[in-house]
Amino acid sequence: MCGIVGAIAQRNVAKILLEGLSRLEYRGYDSSGVAINNEVGVRAHRAVGKVQALKDKFEATPLDGKIGIAHTRWATHGKPTETNAHPHFSGPDLALVHNGIIENHEVLRRQLKELGYEFKSETDTEVIVHLIHNELKTEPDFLQAVKNSLKHLEGAFAIAVTLNDQNHRLIAARKGSPLVVGVGIEENFVASDQLALLHVTDQFIFLEEGDVVELTRDGVTIFDSKDQVQERPISVFNHNIDATDKGEFRHYMMKEIYEQPAVISACLEGRISHNKVLTSCFGANSDFLKEIDNVHIVACGTSYHAGMVAKYWIEDLANLPCTVEVASEYRYRKVAVPKNTLFLTLSQSGETADTLAALRKAKEQGYLTTLAICNVPSSTLVRESDLTLLTNAGAEIGVASTKAFTTQLTALLITAIAIADQKGQLSAEQQQNLVNSLRSLPAYIDEALKEDEYIKQVADRFANKHNALFLGRGPMFPIALEGSLKLKEISYIHAEAYPAGELKHGPLALVDEDMPIITMVPHNNMLDKLKSNLQEVAARGGELYVFADQDTELHNEPGVIFTKVPKVDEILEPIVHTIPLQLLSYHVAVVKGTDVDQPRNLAKSVTVE
Ligand code: AGP
Repeated sequence: MCGIVGAIAQRNVAKILLEGLSRLEYRGYDSSGVAINNEVGVRAHRAVGKVQALKDKFEATPLDGKIGIAHTRWATHGKPTETNAHPHFSGPDLALVHNGIIENHEVLRRQLKELGYEFKSETDTEVIVHLIHNELKTEPDFLQAVKNSLKHLEGAFAIAVTLNDQNHRLIAARKGSPLVVGVGIEENFVASDQLALLHVTDQFIFLEEGDVVELTRDGVTIFDSKDQVQERPISVFNHNIDATDKGEFRHYMMKEIYEQPAVISACLEGRISHNKVLTSCFGANSDFLKEIDNVHIVACGTSYHAGMVAKYWIEDLANLPCTVEVASEYRYRKVAVPKNTLFLTLSQSGETADTLAALRKAKEQGYLTTLAICNVPSSTLVRESDLTLLTNAGAEIGVASTKAFTTQLTALLITAIAIADQKGQLSAEQQQNLVNSLRSLPAYIDEALKEDEYIKQVADRFANKHNALFLGRGPMFPIALEGSLKLKEISYIHAEAYPAGELKHGPLALVDEDMPIITMVPHNNMLDKLKSNLQEVAARGGELYVFADQDTELHNEPGVIFTKVPKVDEILEPIVHTIPLQLLSYHVAVVKGTDVDQPRNLAKSVTVE
């Protein structure tokens, strides 16, 4: 989604804003822009494409000033053009950047046109800046004019706005889209997330729904949704600052794939003892675990796939019914909630609009409690959920989720074991074995990564492919779904995933010598059934890419390309089998020459509906 940055300082803010945009670029990269407010007026540069294009404009024609706003866009209303790029202006002196969607923009646009306003862009955002301009005709106070204007907006927004004769303050606000204040010394900032400001501060204030904030060089004043001044706590950022550094890797995605042994260790830390899962990781009061009779998991995209794997674990280990649903569906349907149901959300960012809306709806449906498994401690999802289990993966920059997914799976396995234990479904020995498995997980991931060079060669075979079919059975089916999502996201190859047993009910018609069939082979009682499914493919000339451990007795042969995956306990197979699929997608994308970290049309954090 779009990202915004704002700064008010004693020094020139142009470089601060441009660096902030580079750090936010993973959120949206269709176009970008900066407006600088100085004695001469408010002037802006905008550019289509990457932030580098905007930097080139600043290089050619510098803009200097001590107050400014900036934006990186992920287009929703109107194509990625310079005219649609933010900041948007009303007159020469008032400029605004916006993340979110204004749902009543058409009505407002009509009203503003009747008042004589001319619209330059196709965006929903432009109505906000004209509304404020119109308000300023009768309300001379800039802050109050912004507050009055926001009352007319329906939908989601985080905004930052600057007015030329108001060089001593910058106004920002949030409702439905994330916004954080960065606190400096004689300078203050706002941004869509902390990463955008780590080059200038590590002190942050997280704004709440409906907050309006006035930033001056010396202070920050926050007005809550009832227009009351609020003191909010300052948090000190404690993530590894190197998250925005690719290190020795060509792409963030590869760096993040290789970080998995370390971040899975971080996810396990403090959550398991030598023989059991520590229920204290869910907070001081973990009694809720005993009361759960059902689990309802809601998430989007990759996080949804993690939820699908968890269904197998929760039903198998805890013997409890578990349903899994995408948030965009859940939020709009009538739900029947069985007694004592845990509502569990999964999200890397904790800012996904559909997941947040689902949580807000769930809070009115009589669930036992709400638990968020999330990677961002300061996120809205964490703040609004009753309970939280953090995945501790560190900032994930690549749009295609990798380490966030495997740490979600790790946290979900911890959760499934904790529920099973508290429901009396596990013997001490069973729990000991599960904990031993969890402890060995980082080493197995390390071993799986050793196939990287081999998988790179396998990926060359995909250079001219246009379609791919992924197959899995049991908990490997969601892993097949995740593998196909990863491949299509970053290589733009059309990929689909099926439970292997479904092949003969339709998709077999697609199989010919041009169709690669990628199969995650588990080593369990489904192995023989899956081998039969593979025979069905081989008989039709399909090219099989098989990921399995060596004891499955599968190997390279004509029509079969075999990739070795470490032999692990069955419960860990979905996590460990994810690694070769991540590597395959990565190398195929590199072979195809696509933009691995910032694939077309996608954004890291989907903060609009
Ligand atoms: C996965 O590679 C994608 N980035 C996407 O499917 C993502 O998982 C989805 O948008 C949900 O995001 P969240 O985990 O931050 O809620």
